[in-house]
Formats: sequence, C-alpha cells, structure tokens
Amino acid sequence: MNDKILIVLIIAVSVIIIILYISVNNEENLLKNTSSINSKEDLKELFKNYNHKIINNKDLIEESNNIESKLFKVCEDALNITKDSIYSGVYILKNIMTKKDCLRTIYEAEKYAKVHGGWKNGRHEMYPTHDIDIRNIYTMENYIYHLAHSSILPKVAEKFNLNLRYLGISEIFIVKYCKEGQTKLVEHEDGHDFSFIIPLNKDYVGGGTKFKFLKDIVDPDIGNCTIFCGKHRHKGVEIKSGERYILAGFLNYGWNFLKRDFKIGN
Ligand SMILES: [Fe+2]
Repeated sequence: MNDKILIVLIIAVSVIIIILYISVNNEENLLKNTSSINSKEDLKELFKNYNHKIINNKDLIEESNNIESKLFKVCEDALNITKDSIYSGVYILKNIMTKKDCLRTIYEAEKYAKVHGGWKNGRHEMYPTHDIDIRNIYTMENYIYHLAHSSILPKVAEKFNLNLRYLGISEIFIVKYCKEGQTKLVEHEDGHDFSFIIPLNKDYVGGGTKFKFLKDIVDPDIGNCTIFCGKHRHKGVEIKSGERYILAGFLNYGWNFLKRDFKIGN
C-alpha cells in the first residue's frame, strides 16, 4: 500500500474515533446533568428560574394582552349590539346537514328520551328549553361536533370578523317544540357569544325564530343553518300544531361561559 494512502487512512480513522469519543462524552455529560437534578431543591430552583423567564418575557406578555383585549372587545361590542352593528347580522348557511341526517338526529334523540325518561327541561337556567344535550347521544356527538367545527365555525368567524382559533363550542343540543312540552321561547339573548340553529323537520305550523333587528321570521329549510350573535335578542315563535325539532348550538369566543365559575384577576 502506498505510504500516502496509509497516512490518509490513519488520519480518517483517528478523526472518526475522536468524533465518537466526543459524542459519547457529551451524552454522558447530558445524563450527568439530568441526573444531577435529583433533589427537590434542584427542581424547585430550575422551575423558579424557568417560570421567571416565561412570566417576564416581554413578547409573551404583549401577545397575551393583545389577544385578551381583542377577545374582550368583541364580547363588549356584542353586548352593546345595535341595528347597524356587525353583530346584528343573521346568515343562512345552506345544506349543512342532509335531510337523512336531520331525521336520524330526531330518531336518535327520541330513542334517547325513551330510554332515559323523556326530554329534559332544566338545563338552561334563564330560558329553559325542552332539550337533550348532543353529548348524551354517542352515535351523534362526534359527527355533530365535527360538522360544527368544519362547516359552521369557519363561517361564523368569517361573517362576524372573528379569529377562528379562539372560537369554540360551549354546547350543542336538540330542542323539541310540542304541545305536551314547550311550544315557544320568549324573547331573550343567549348566555353565549354566538349561536346557530338547524331545523331538523318541517312537520309543524307556526314556529321559526324572530330576531329583534329583522322584520321577517327566520325558518329556513331542513338542514340549513342560521348563524347569529347570541346577544341579538330573539324568540322561538309559537308552533300552532305539530312538532318542531331543531339542533341548536352555543359558541364562545375565547371563554366558555360554562367554565366561567372561577375567578380571574387579582
Ligand atoms: Fe336563544
């Protein structure tokens, strides 16, 4: 073998050995460092410093305050809704559910009611509806939540100029208007920021939703979805005969009303 080639080979092998040594040594040092954080005091010190860095990070403080003020502004503006406000808009999204899925939703709700002692009336404190929370119906829950997230929330965000990432679902439920239960719902505003209603059938006379800032009663075809700001006062118009089923949803913008029983600030 040529002497030059032999020297190059020796150098190459030496370099590889040095690299391997350094990497193994680094790994050992890492393990040593990790294993050195064993005592409770060490851990406390580590998290104290870590939290200190996070809590005092100017970018994070600014971003957090910025997001918070934007969310609060929407909620405040919605509370002060006027006829010309963006929040008085009422929009119909066509063909959100197929007729078959609407009828299946009624079927599943009635099946649930039969097994669990009828339709419930006490879930909403201020304006109780004759309803069933969709989360109780396991054959419907994921389908309906997926549908809302994929087809309804993006449109609500678009129409009301919201950031979709802060828009969430508070609850979705099936309401039944009938002679034996509830035939109407008095004018009110919802406890949540935005809402939707999907009619599931048309086997009734009367019915629909009347909004304060709209002249006409809104009662679109089966499977179409009405979206609106929950602070736009509205009422469920009385049904004169038959049974009316709707799928209703409450949306929150950044803060789920159902979780607002904890205190913030101070
Ligand atoms: Fe309502």
